[in-house]
Amino acid sequence: MKAAVVVGAQWGDEGKAKVIDFLTEHADIVVRYQGGANAGHTVVTDGQKHVFHLVPSGVLYADKICVIGNGVVLDPTAFLAEVRELAQRGVDAAGRVFVSSRAHLILPVHAALDRAAEVSMGGRAIGTTGRGIGPAYVDKAGRLGVQVADLLDRERFRRRVGRIVERANALLVNLYGAEPVAAEEVVAAGLATADELRPMVRDVALLLDREMRAGKRVLLEGAQGTMLDLDHGTYPFVTSSNSTAGGACAGAGVGPTRIGRVIGIAKAYATRVGNGPFPTQIDGPLAEKVRTWGGEFGATTGRPRRCGWFDVLAARHAVRVNGLDELAVTKLDVLDELDEIPVCTGYRLNGELLTETPLRGRDLEAVEPIYEHLPGWRSRTTGARSLHDLPAAAREYLDRLAEWAGVPVGIVSVGPDRQQTLTTSNHRAFVTD
Ligand code: IMP
Repeated sequence: MKAAVVVGAQWGDEGKAKVIDFLTEHADIVVRYQGGANAGHTVVTDGQKHVFHLVPSGVLYADKICVIGNGVVLDPTAFLAEVRELAQRGVDAAGRVFVSSRAHLILPVHAALDRAAEVSMGGRAIGTTGRGIGPAYVDKAGRLGVQVADLLDRERFRRRVGRIVERANALLVNLYGAEPVAAEEVVAAGLATADELRPMVRDVALLLDREMRAGKRVLLEGAQGTMLDLDHGTYPFVTSSNSTAGGACAGAGVGPTRIGRVIGIAKAYATRVGNGPFPTQIDGPLAEKVRTWGGEFGATTGRPRRCGWFDVLAARHAVRVNGLDELAVTKLDVLDELDEIPVCTGYRLNGELLTETPLRGRDLEAVEPIYEHLPGWRSRTTGARSLHDLPAAAREYLDRLAEWAGVPVGIVSVGPDRQQTLTTSNHRAFVTD
C-alpha cells in the first residue's frame, strides 16, 4: 500500500486538521514530517474542540499510531504537555505515539532568539509564531543541533546544549541586546523530559518501512502551507522547513516511490497570518465579516488572520510543486451569504498580465489581482451531506476552481464537524502499487 501525503495548498490554516481527521479513519498511521509547535490544528468531534500543536490529531482515534518524523523540530516540554493534556481528556497516547530519534529539539534559547530576531527586524519582521522554529532549523543546518537521541545520553546532551547556548548568548547579548540564557537551566529542562520521552523514541524510517510492507496505510501530514514553504513559498516570509509534499520524503524517511497520492487542501477563499505578500487580501467591513464567519483567528497565537479571495495562481503553483492529485476545498459554508464571490485569475504587474506566479518572489508584493466574479448561492450549505445537496451555484463555484487549478476537487468541507465532509468521485487517498 502506498502512502498518502496531505499538504496545505495556500498560506496555512486551510483546515488541514479537519480533512486529516476525516482521512485518518481509513489510515493506520499518521505522521507529521516538518515544522513544530508553530502549527495549530483544531478538530471538532461530537461538539468537543481539540487543539493540537505537535501530536498528530489522528491520536483521537484509539486504534491509530501517530508518529513525529525526523523533519519536525520538537519542543519536548510542549510535546509532553500536549500528551498529558490529551490524557486528561481521556485520550491515551501510550504505546501509539512515537518520535523519531533524529528529530531536532527546540530549546528555550531558540524561542528567545526567535523573538529577539523579530524585534530587531522592526517593520520587516516575518511575523513568526515565536516558538523558536527558525533558530532550531538554523542550528540543525549549522550542524550544531541536538537530536532526540542526544537527549537520551546525558553527557552528550549537556555538551551539545552548552555549545548551542554559548553561540545563542553571543547573539542574544551582543547582537540583540537581550538577556542571556543560563545553559544549566536549558540542560535541566531538557533532561527533565528524557524519561517520559524515552519509550516513544523510534527509528521512524524503519518503523514506517516495516508497517508499509505489512500493508498498513500511512498518511503523511504537512503543517503550514505551500506558500509558507522555505523553498517554494513567499521567501523570506516563510517558515523554515519544506511543508510541500517533497518534504514528506525527507522528513519521515519515506522514499518518493512509496508515495501514491498527494492531496492539497485549500479554503474556498484564502487567509494568511504573519507578514508577507498576500495579493488577494481584503480589508474593511467585508474582511471583518469573512473573519467572523470563518473564525479566522490563529489557533497557536490567537492573531486575527488576514482574509482574501481564492487565488488561482497560488493554487496552480501548489498543484505544480506538490504534484497534487486532488484538492480538498474547505470552509465553503463561510461564503454562504455572499451575493457574488471574487476569484483571482491573474495578476497585473507594471502593466503586464501574469497568469502564473511571478519569477521574483518580491514582485508578489506589487501585483494587482484581477478578479472574475462568480455568483454566490445565498443559502446555507452546512447541512449538505453529499455534493448533490449543494446549491447549483456552489457546485459551479467548485467546478470553476478545479478547472482553473487544473486538478479535480475530491473533498468539500461545509463545517467543522466530521459529518460535514463531502466526497466526490475524484477522491482517493490510498492506492496500491
Ligand atoms: P514560524 O514558522 O513561527 O517561523 O513563522 C514563519 C511564518 O509562518 C509566519 O508568517 C507565521 O505566521 C507562519 N506560520 C507558521 N505556522 C503557521 C501555521 O500553522 N499556520 C499559518 N501560518 C503559520
